[in-house]
Parts: sequence; structure tokens; C-alpha cells
Amino acid sequence: RRRRTIPFLQEAKSAGRKLVMVTAYDYPSARAAEAADVDMVLVGDSGAMTVLGHDSTVSVTTEEMLTLTKAARRGTRNAILVADLPFGSYEVSDEQAAATAVRFVKEAGADAVKLEGGGRISVSRARAIVGAGVPVVGHVGLTPQTAVALGGYRAQGRTVESALAVARGALDLQAAGCVAIVFEAVPSVLTDDLMSVMRIPVIGIGAGAGADGQVLVFHDLLGIREGVGAKFVRRYADLQDEMNAGVAAYADEVRRGVFPGPEHGYGMDADEFALYRA
Ligand code: KIV
Ligand code: NA
Repeated sequence: RRRRTIPFLQEAKSAGRKLVMVTAYDYPSARAAEAADVDMVLVGDSGAMTVLGHDSTVSVTTEEMLTLTKAARRGTRNAILVADLPFGSYEVSDEQAAATAVRFVKEAGADAVKLEGGGRISVSRARAIVGAGVPVVGHVGLTPQTAVALGGYRAQGRTVESALAVARGALDLQAAGCVAIVFEAVPSVLTDDLMSVMRIPVIGIGAGAGADGQVLVFHDLLGIREGVGAKFVRRYADLQDEMNAGVAAYADEVRRGVFPGPEHGYGMDADEFALYRA
């Protein structure tokens, strides 16, 4: 087990070792990630949906993301802790982006931040944050904060224009000094093609097996969810079913008078009780 640093990411890529990233939003999820010795823990703004119950990521605030990041920080030791900059916290200006990024490092203990998009604005913000001394992870392809503009939660880069936009964004973010980049929901052949020009680690989610590493949302991979997930999710457990069954069993035992049993209660010295009654 080793404490990951930013250079570790580059070393792993050079050595052809796959990088593992998973999201976490609190202490127990970060502890689970650490127990698996993952390389990177992402406090994704997907937490807006997975733990705060919103139906998209756009409404989560910086204060909320800071709270989630602080909790994940307490459970993260060896992995690099990356925090998502929420929608609206970096778009306005380079100054706003750098100031928000610095908050995540200073107040919440993040090691790096991630922002979405590969267009002119996002690239400028990434450069400004790097300039402020905060490592940045890029994110191209399906970028949920702007999903409405992209036509919904759908794969990107499947047409010439869209593929060129993904490629340009990835290269520009790399040139801006990003330490890694997430490719989300893009064709596997596009990832494979771009791997020859990407010098920074590419972390894929729905981007094929050719990437340098993979990321999944904690709740998706553990089956803590309603309905069916995206095509790119593999479910390794069904924890929502386990949680429902556990709470239902408890409720049933309370209603039937089975819980609590005598072993769950506290005793009292007979003399003390007698004096109390008197
Ligand atoms: O918020 C998130 O979980 C993410 C990952 C899917 C990359 O951005
Ligand atoms: Na995100």
C-alpha cells in the first residue's frame, strides 16, 4: 500500500498499470475505497443525485460539495482525493474558478479538483486553477452539468463533429496542465485512437477498455439505486436490496415485539431499584 501522489499517476501510466478511481461522498464510502486500495477517490457531483436525491447534478452547491469532500477526506488516506467543482462555481471567470478550487484544498483537504468540458472556457479555467497551484482533472464526452445542451445523458463523440470536439477538448485540457482526464460515454474506438496522443492518464467511464484506468459511481457499482443504470455500469453488489431487507426485518421485529430482547437492555441493582421505588 502506498500513498499516491500526482507523479504516481504518470508512473502508473508509463508502467501500463491500470488506475482505479471510484466516487465517495462520506466517511464509510471513502473507507470502502481505501480498503480496496484504489488510486483515486472522486467526490463526484454525482453525489447531488446519489446522496442528496436531486434529479441532476446542477443544483448541488459549493457548500454542500465541501461538506461531502470533508467527510470523504476523513476516510481517505492513501488515495488521491479529487473533488468535483459544482456547476456554477467555476464558469464565471478564471478568478472564480481558482478561488473555488483553492477552497476545496484549504477547507476540505482535496488533493485535486475536477471540472467539466473541453471548450475554450473550461480550458481557460483549468489553466487558471493549475496556475493557482491546484492539480486539475479534466472531463470530456458526456458532461452531466451540461447534459441538457448535449441532448440528454447520451454518448458523445459518435459523429465526426462530436468526435473532433472530444479530441480537441482532451488535447487542450492536456496542454492546459491537467494531471489526468475523464472520458465519459465516448466510443471505445475514439478512446483507443486518442490514447496515442494522450500523455496524461485517461480515466474512462463508458469509454472502453483502452483507457489508462476506470471510474465508476460508488452507488452504481454497489446497486444502491432505483431502476436500471447506464450501459457502462457493472453492478458488483445489490446493496439497496440488502438495506431494504435489513430495515424491513427490524421494523417487523419491533412490530411483533421480538426486538429488543432482554440482552439489549440495561440492568439495575435490586437495592437501587427498591430505594428508587421507596
Ligand atoms: O460525478 C461523478 O461521479 C463523475 C464521474 C462519473 C466521473 O464525474
Ligand atoms: Na461529476
